[in-house]
Amino acid sequence: MNGFRSGVKGQLVLVTGGAGFIGSAVVRELGKSTRADIVNVDKLTYAGNHDSVGAEAFDGRYTFVRADICDAVAMQEVFEAYRPDVVMHLAAESHVDRSIAGPAAFIETNIVGTYTLLEVARTYWEGLGLSDPEKANGFRFHHVSTDEVYGDLYGTDDLFREATPYAPSSPYSASKAGSDHLVRAWQRTFGLPTLISNCSNNYGPYQFPEKLIPLMILNARDGKPLPVYGNGQQVRDWLYVEDHARALIRVATEGEVGETYNIGGHNEVTNLEVVERICELLEELAPYKPEGVNHYRDLITFVADRPGHDLRYAIDASKIERELGWVPSETFETGLRKTVQWYLDNGDWVEGVTSGAYRDWVEKHYGEQAVDRANDG
Ligand code: NAD
Ligand code: DAU
Repeated sequence: MNGFRSGVKGQLVLVTGGAGFIGSAVVRELGKSTRADIVNVDKLTYAGNHDSVGAEAFDGRYTFVRADICDAVAMQEVFEAYRPDVVMHLAAESHVDRSIAGPAAFIETNIVGTYTLLEVARTYWEGLGLSDPEKANGFRFHHVSTDEVYGDLYGTDDLFREATPYAPSSPYSASKAGSDHLVRAWQRTFGLPTLISNCSNNYGPYQFPEKLIPLMILNARDGKPLPVYGNGQQVRDWLYVEDHARALIRVATEGEVGETYNIGGHNEVTNLEVVERICELLEELAPYKPEGVNHYRDLITFVADRPGHDLRYAIDASKIERELGWVPSETFETGLRKTVQWYLDNGDWVEGVTSGAYRDWVEKHYGEQAVDRANDG
């Protein structure tokens, strides 16, 4: 049972990063299946797009605040003005390749931003303890994190469990690991009522097309090369984004304070197989191909590997299934088909987010990949 559904109207959920891929799915799900009021705080970086939220459907229960989570004064004003019952913290720099090209923004937003939010939340919650103890008792701060903090599982049949030691490989995952440690410290030292979830790779509508699945769909649609890093045998555990959004709301409302929950899709697939399946779906869903393309799979191009590339991720999600009754509803087959169709049908959204900044990134990153590859060969 979703905690908000039975809750009185007036419970307020503060979502950070709600204009991003997963955050917008959380906001849409909160709008659809709860009666909560929602405040979405997002800086609108290159990865944030307010069109993803669909706010017109929210019937006056939704507020958007454009702000940076590193800005303590702005965050204080948001907490004082809206007095949240629950914080769902998703705002982050999220792309591993960008963290390799330029780690600074990752340290700033993921570590300093999370620290700033924790301090503002602590001051607010301690104040509530004096002015409104009942509200203070119910307050929860949910930090949304990633399975990448655990490193990788190459050469084993093992799964990431909540007690798996942290061993991050990239600047991105190290910054997320740092933020998880801060959240745990604020809980243990100051008693701030926090929860953490660590999830595997998400896919679905509204994902920025720098990530594997949307990049491959759109490149294939346009007859461009499909750049597979290394030999393409790396394994990810894919979860449909709407399943993740439902899991997050479950954790935020019904999870036990102080606990961590791993979330995953039970869908371990190699990168090469993901790309091949996208090509097969496109053969069916977009049979009229760009000029010069006989089969979409002919566009697959092996390029230089990602430095420090994690080889396998896989989640043991039994704790959230057992304790909170959450299970994913999409299989990889059904979710991937919906996703390919969504990108084919939503050219306007794609056009809107693939700005000059996006084109510069693609040119720089994949241009360098091409050069590295030529040097290797
Ligand atoms: P995303 O990059 O699509 O969206 C991030 C959002 O945060 C954007 O809307 C951006 O504008 C906003 N943002 C960035 N810096 C900000 C700042 N300083 N202040 C305020 N807003 C800021 O990311 P996503 O894929 O939706 O991931 C959301 C969260 O989930 C992240 O914390 C990420 O680490 C975590 N996560 C992602 C995945 C995945 O597969 N994408 C899996 C597990 C966990
Ligand atoms: O595991 C959860 C993580 O999943 C999240 O924490 C991150 O925010 C999210 O970006 C994602 O990280 P990955 O690095 O796994 O996702 P990405 O889509 O960048 O890459 C998926 C795999 O595909 C990875 O092994 C690298 C590979 N890849 C990626 C791109 C963009 C390619 O082979 N070619 C590419 O062009």
